[in-house]
Amino acid sequence: MVRVLFVGDVVGKVGRRLVSERLRRLQAEVEAHVTVVNVENAAGGFGLTGSIWEELRRLPVDVFTSGNHIWDKRETGALLDSEPRLLRPANYPAGNPGRGWCVATSRAGVAVAVINLQGLTFMTAIDSPFQAADRILDEIGERAAVRIVDFHAEATSEKQAMAWYVDGRVSAVFGTHTHVPTADERILPGGTAAQTDVGMTGPYEGVIGFKPQAVLERFLLATPRALEPATRGGALCGAVVEVDETTGRSLAVRRVRVEEGERV
Ligand SMILES: [Fe+2]
Ligand SMILES: [Fe+2]
Repeated sequence: MVRVLFVGDVVGKVGRRLVSERLRRLQAEVEAHVTVVNVENAAGGFGLTGSIWEELRRLPVDVFTSGNHIWDKRETGALLDSEPRLLRPANYPAGNPGRGWCVATSRAGVAVAVINLQGLTFMTAIDSPFQAADRILDEIGERAAVRIVDFHAEATSEKQAMAWYVDGRVSAVFGTHTHVPTADERILPGGTAAQTDVGMTGPYEGVIGFKPQAVLERFLLATPRALEPATRGGALCGAVVEVDETTGRSLAVRRVRVEEGERV
């Protein structure tokens, strides 16, 4: 059995503090063999900088996933090309830097494929994540029975549809991007674990990780305002899935939430 710890969108300073101070203890507590962390909001809520990547890459994380915000900083393109453990959604049009999936090796030597996809509904119109999933699963073939999908999407329906689309072909589909954990973790009939959104790793005292004032002005006035990450209510959110490494089917899945104030 392979146990995978999946951690949702790391947002700003609070998110980075949580992964640097809490991740190791959590990994020991849940006995994780492989850890995947989404870092699309690590730099002040928007993307990734070179110096923040230097900080994150030292963490005991096997694969870093991302999403729409990975393109926010110009310097990230070079990072995506040079760092095979740092993924961006696979279904961006060809010609963009980086890669959207990789195969990591668990502590026990088991191959674990990690696939990063992005939804279309209420988001930038990119290539179909469903067709991209088909292509990538063909390419992975015999290389890895354990397959984890980070589906970075806005619409609950699209996220659930993806889980059903790949049911029996991947071990788990974990939703990211909306920053609010959903209480629907389950295993579909084909053996694919799914949670619509695992939630963010960041400050929950705000609006999806940001200070409320500027967000409210955006809603009330319908004009742009700079957003700043909130500072309070930090929590690390994610999920743990246990996978039979011979079949790739999930055996158990549960939500994880570590409050910043609490000891684990
Ligand atoms: Fe995010
Ligand atoms: Fe996002």
